[in-house]
This record gives sequence, C-alpha cells and structure tokens, in this order.
Amino acid sequence: MNMNEIIAKKRDGDILSPEEIEYFVKGYTNEEIPDYQISALLMAIFIQGMNHDETLALTKSMLNSGDTVDLSEIPGIKVDKHSTGGIGDKTTIIVAPIAAACGVPIAKMSGRGLGFTGGTVDKLESIPGFQTILKSEQFMEQVRKIGISVIGQSANIAPADKKIYALRDVTATVENLSLITSSIMSKKLASGSDAIVLDVKCGRGAFAETEEQASMLAGMMVEIGNAAGKRTIAAVTDMNNPLGRAVGNSVEIIEAIETLKGQGPEDISELSVILAGLMIFCGGVAATAEEGKGLAKEAIKSGRALRKFGEFITAQGGNPEIIYDYSLFKQPKIKRLITTDRSGYVASIDAKAIGISSQLAGGGRTKKEDTIDLSAGIYLFKKINEYVEKGEAIAEVFGDNEQGVQSAVKIISEAYEMSFEKVQEKPLIKKIIE
Ligand code: URA
Repeated sequence: MNMNEIIAKKRDGDILSPEEIEYFVKGYTNEEIPDYQISALLMAIFIQGMNHDETLALTKSMLNSGDTVDLSEIPGIKVDKHSTGGIGDKTTIIVAPIAAACGVPIAKMSGRGLGFTGGTVDKLESIPGFQTILKSEQFMEQVRKIGISVIGQSANIAPADKKIYALRDVTATVENLSLITSSIMSKKLASGSDAIVLDVKCGRGAFAETEEQASMLAGMMVEIGNAAGKRTIAAVTDMNNPLGRAVGNSVEIIEAIETLKGQGPEDISELSVILAGLMIFCGGVAATAEEGKGLAKEAIKSGRALRKFGEFITAQGGNPEIIYDYSLFKQPKIKRLITTDRSGYVASIDAKAIGISSQLAGGGRTKKEDTIDLSAGIYLFKKINEYVEKGEAIAEVFGDNEQGVQSAVKIISEAYEMSFEKVQEKPLIKKIIE
C-alpha cells in the first residue's frame, strides 16, 4: 500500500477501505509513516469527511493499536461515562458513586485536565492521600469488593489516538466529527465496560458550539458504540454557562460532596441524576431511564451514594474525613473577591473565560508536564438570572500565585454579562440519543 495514494484518494473525496485505514494507523503508531503525510491525510479527512464505515474502521484500528482492558471477571454490566468536556463539570465524581450505590459496577479510567478544561483525575488527587494509579489486580479487586474504582488512563490505551490527537492539535484538524468520534470511542471501547453513557456538550464552552453539531456528534458516537457491540446512549447538554458554582480541583470535589449530600446547585444536581439514571438503566438495574433517575435520587436522599463515595476514597488511600471537614483540603494562600459596578440580573457567564481564569489562577495546565495548584479555582456566587446589587461580590478567585489570580480577576469581571431583566434560560438537557 502507498501512503501517497491514500492521501490522494481522500483528497479526491473517495472512500478509504478498512485495510487502508489500518495501514496508516499502524504505520503512524510504529513511526514508519512521517508526520507530514499524516498531517496531509488529516486535512483531507477534515475537508472531505468520512462515512460511517470509515469512522468505524478508524475507531477499531485506533482501539487495536494498544492494550484493551478485560473486565469480564467482574460480575454485572459495567457502565462507563464520558463527557466531551466542560467548565465546572464534576459529574463523574457524583454519578460514579450514585450508580455504584445502585448496584452498577464502575471500573473507570479518567483523564487529566488540559488547557481550560478540567480533568477528573486531577480533581480526585486534590483529596489528601488519594491514589489514581493502581495495579490492574488492585483495580479489579476494588470493583469486585465495593463496586467502584476510578483511575488514570493507562499509558498504552489507544496509543494511535495519542499521536494523532497531538498532530490534530497543531494542524487545525481537531473539529471534525469523525475524528472526534473515533478518538473518544477508541479509548472508551478499549477501557472494557459493557455500556457507555456520553454527555455531549454544546455551546460556547464546548467543541460543538451548536445543538445541531452536538447532536450529529452524539448520533455518530452512539452509532459507533452500538456497532462495536456496546450499548451506548448520549445526552446532549448545554455548556454555554459553567456547570455549578465551583471551577477548579478541590473546590469541585467539595461541590460534588455537597451534591451527594443533596445540597448541590440545581443545574449540577439535575444533570447528575439524569446521567446516573441513564447509567443505572444501561446497567440493567432499572427498566427505564426515568426509573433510573428515581433510583439515583433515592441513593442521594438515603445517604447511600455519599457512603459509597466515602468507601471509594478510603479504598484508594484518601482521607474520607474530607467529606465532613473541608479544611482538610490544601488551602489557597490568596483569595480575591470580584464585585460589579452596576446592579442587575446576570444574563450570561462565558464558560470558556471562566475555564481560562481557573487555568491562569493555577488550576490548569498549558503543557502536559505542568504541575497544578489543586487549591486554585473560582467560586461563582452569582449565576444566571440571579440579582446583583452594585458593589456586591459576584465571584471569588483563589490560588497561590498573585499574578495568576490577578489575571483571572480581570477575565472574570469581563465574563459576566448583566441585564436589567431576567433572561430566557436555555434548557440544560437538549436531547437524549439512543
Ligand atoms: N476528546 C478526545 O479525546 N478527542 C477528541 O478528538 C476531542 C475530545
């Protein structure tokens, strides 16, 4: 096979065969095909697109480029959950113990944050003592014993995606539905769960800005997941405004705990029971998603979800006392309040700007190697349609780095849009795609 011909074929709008796709994925992973040829091919794919069969073949080739996790020894239907990334999105930390408390085994690998979006692994590491690297036997044993484990993604899961994603990032070829689908689904399918619940975000703080784009992405991922033999359901949800009030690492864990105590912000509480409901349904514990949602609410109300969270922290070496004593988290050296210079209702909060502010305050990385300040972040006192008096605090920024905190303060002041009247709120859940 000849790489030049494969590039020309896609450039001219033809369909690539599974063999041709396997050839370039394998060749690139083994460093036999250079970056410049894959860059050209990615741009041709970006412009000409890929059909369903090509996307499925690309997903399978990337999935088979590394290790796959075998969870078959763990009884029950294992359910994974993935969000395409949002600001203040701490739902995994909430829905995993809820689903586990309802009898759905959770054996999950999660990622770190990069750029302006956070990652579950960083957030969990803000719990004193919490370990996100476990030996495979320990991971499996924990799921068998207490029904839940969440660890960092092992290095050799879909290595082809790692290389291709890094190249897409610097060749303006990230925002293509087939490339995003194959990238996400190759990792999900390699992680071994039997069913997958996807939270596909749309809006200013997401890859897909419009509901239409997000629905197409969700539809494609659901098709590919089901075609690969895993039951897959997606919720398309709003990401114009940050989720909840907390953005950062330890501050998001605290908000997740509050939600598990039944005292979380409305948006994050609602989204969590819907996603947990879908997981409970996919896990075969409920006959419908609605029944699953009811079970999720009951697990919160009865305290079972919170107790499961405590067991999960203890099993992974963390201090469960943080659930009742938030002073046990590392405390930031600097705290700065942000006030407004006029009265009115909050009309919108630019989610991406809040994500960037959290990153600047020290809560996120610009390069993979950066260390982050787990105490850094933002708390939004005021959200959409809440009234603010002139001079009142709308948000607080915290962290250890004076310069970073100052930059964040400036951005947050500009991220708030005010109005004299309340605005029409967009629904949080746009649609569910099966
Ligand atoms: N997340 C991924 O893992 N891959 C993409 O292509 C986009 C988001």
